[in-house]
Amino acid sequence: MLIDSYDRVVDYLRISVTERCNFRCQYCMPQKPFSWVPQENLLSFEELFEFVKVAIDEGVNKVRITGGEPLLRNDLDIFIKMIYDYKPTIDLSMTTNGYLLKDMAQKLKDTGLKRINVSIDSLKPEVAQHIAQKDVLKEVLEGVDEAQRVGLKVKVNMVPMRGVNDNEIFDVLEYAKQRGMSIRFIEYMENAYAAASLKGLKANEVLEMLATRYNFVDEGFEKASPSRYYKMEDGYRFGIIEPYGDDFCKECNRIRLTAEGYLIPCLYFDEAMSIADAVKKGDIKTAALVLKEVVKNKPEKNRWGSQEEDEISQRAFYETGG
Ligand code: 5AD
Ligand code: SF4
Repeated sequence: MLIDSYDRVVDYLRISVTERCNFRCQYCMPQKPFSWVPQENLLSFEELFEFVKVAIDEGVNKVRITGGEPLLRNDLDIFIKMIYDYKPTIDLSMTTNGYLLKDMAQKLKDTGLKRINVSIDSLKPEVAQHIAQKDVLKEVLEGVDEAQRVGLKVKVNMVPMRGVNDNEIFDVLEYAKQRGMSIRFIEYMENAYAAASLKGLKANEVLEMLATRYNFVDEGFEKASPSRYYKMEDGYRFGIIEPYGDDFCKECNRIRLTAEGYLIPCLYFDEAMSIADAVKKGDIKTAALVLKEVVKNKPEKNRWGSQEEDEISQRAFYETGG
């Protein structure tokens, strides 16, 4: 079992298989042109899988594939099958923007994927286009429909932003609810790459808004989830993720692996250690040592709550998959 210095069990690995993305979401991607990590620096699926095996052997039982946009990487279903075949009971999920989902959903389901998270920040084509900086809504909604049809469990993420999509909180919630999908509202996390003008809604503002129309009770945190859940009278539950809040890090059970092989103990901080050389040489022992070291160094808390200007996170979400 992997246990960090604050007695948290680390059993959840998030793997960003590419930092590339076919969207340019304003809360995630820089507006100015920038260069990607060269393709040859990426670890192959075989190399990533070498590490996944080490992590599973050390106690990881939950793996999420993220990006960038993970479906931009060819043959992702083959990688999913490798992980599934190694341990079929693993909780295997993916975060995707949904754009390429329609054609891939069945394949992903067949190779062992269980669940996906998709961001739906707006149900208005022009607003979705404004946020993603591309006309995406039709493809995303079709992707979600197909994922549900093939039997993947779908969770919706929404980042409410003032003056952008804060008037759609009810619509997106109802969209998810009517389709039997849970929804989580994520507080906008400031970072050095996002559009400077963005203002996210705070959790209490979202709750106040929802309370004008629904009755619900606070059910608190689910084990090891960063989200606090609320139950409505008809039993439907929605979540709110509040990275600035005090409790966000208390149950954190996750570490992140980038496509280049950096193992990251916390989304907020720049610290990372590479497992690239180890997996390229098939040096499982060193990979396991790096993993243990990173777990040991996992910080107690992020610093999104900090008031300092120079404390804005330098970590790009498109590298780590949020
Ligand atoms: N703040 C909050 N959520 C973010 N995401 C990406 N960037 C940010 C940010 N700056 C979320 C998206 C998506 C997931 C991959 O991460 O909403 O659901
Ligand atoms: Fe791409 Fe996801 Fe970032 Fe949007 S939030 S630009 S979909 S990686």
